[in-house]
Amino acid sequence: SPARAAEGAAPAPVVVAHRGASGYAPENTLAAVDKAADLGAEWVENDVQRTKDGALVVVHDDSLQRTTDVEEVFPDRAPWKVKDFTAAEIARLDAGSWFDPKYAGARVPTLEQYVHRIDQHRQKLLLEIKNPQLYPGIERDILKVLTDEGWLDPAHVRQRLIVQSFDADSVRTVHQLAPAVKTGLLGTPPVADLPAYAAFTDQINPSHASLTADYVTAVHAFKGAHGKRLETFTWTVNDAAAARRVAGYGVDGIITNNPDVVRDAVGG
Ligand code: G3P
Ligand code: CA
Repeated sequence: SPARAAEGAAPAPVVVAHRGASGYAPENTLAAVDKAADLGAEWVENDVQRTKDGALVVVHDDSLQRTTDVEEVFPDRAPWKVKDFTAAEIARLDAGSWFDPKYAGARVPTLEQYVHRIDQHRQKLLLEIKNPQLYPGIERDILKVLTDEGWLDPAHVRQRLIVQSFDADSVRTVHQLAPAVKTGLLGTPPVADLPAYAAFTDQINPSHASLTADYVTAVHAFKGAHGKRLETFTWTVNDAAAARRVAGYGVDGIITNNPDVVRDAVGG
């Protein structure tokens, strides 16, 4: 806002809808993307994994059990790992009823379906590579889909896409395969390790629980892989008081299940 700018304060952090607006709609579904758009969230976060037959799907856990009806549809396939199901099998699952019966019929989206919807809403995507150790080569697969969908167009790629992971090797691989892509490392590594990570990442994205003002200041003192100030997006901040606290530390983004609550708390 003009008042903040006049004070010389940092700009308000961007708001990132965590797994979509997952406080209001079933996580990692197209309904949660739509809800994030309704609530005015500029960015959406998701989690990407790979099926038995090599398709990329948007789902958080390594098992389908918590967020779908897989136990009913495939009762003898415990423990229902994503990597043991084909894309066609996963497409049969209901990923909405567990959250609220009114979302019955919501599906586990493929990455293609997901980026189409993000495109329709002109949103930006914070894509998390989840459990990459289970899916050798998934970085190349993800970049192939993003290329085919036009998401790696050099004129726009750094404005609307960040690829992040807890796995530093995976983040480094993305940077090496597609140097134009902005990347983030999840976690709170020691400050002494930041220069090494900054060689291949643009962001350090910690849990808000242990985040301090000093840590944010330390991150900001380095330059990231594209020569700009190393940034930090923090997760998962669902209430106004916590949002104001981390905004006061100067974080660049707040990842939240409730994008409306965070926007109301921190402005922007
Ligand atoms: O975007 C960061 C956050 O999503 C990391 O934790 O478990 O929700 O994927 P998790
Ligand atoms: Ca995530």
